Amino acid sequence: MQPDEKTLARLKPGCICKGIRLIRLIEAIENGADTYEKIARATGIGGGSCKGRRCGEKVAQLLKKL
Ligand code: FES
Repeated sequence: MQPDEKTLARLKPGCICKGIRLIRLIEAIENGADTYEKIARATGIGGGSCKGRRCGEKVAQLLKKL
């Protein structure tokens, strides 16, 4: 991942429901979390009003990419 992408990820939402930025998801993956459940445990995403639908899609994209 490019440094620019990480800078942007500090501003972009990761889990809109919980107000958690995208960078937190990236850091969790870099620290070894390789499933939605592990990333959710590490970051506190999920369990919002969308029941993880929106952040689940982001996690799936990140896991493919990283
Ligand atoms: S965006 Fe994460 S629970 Fe809704």
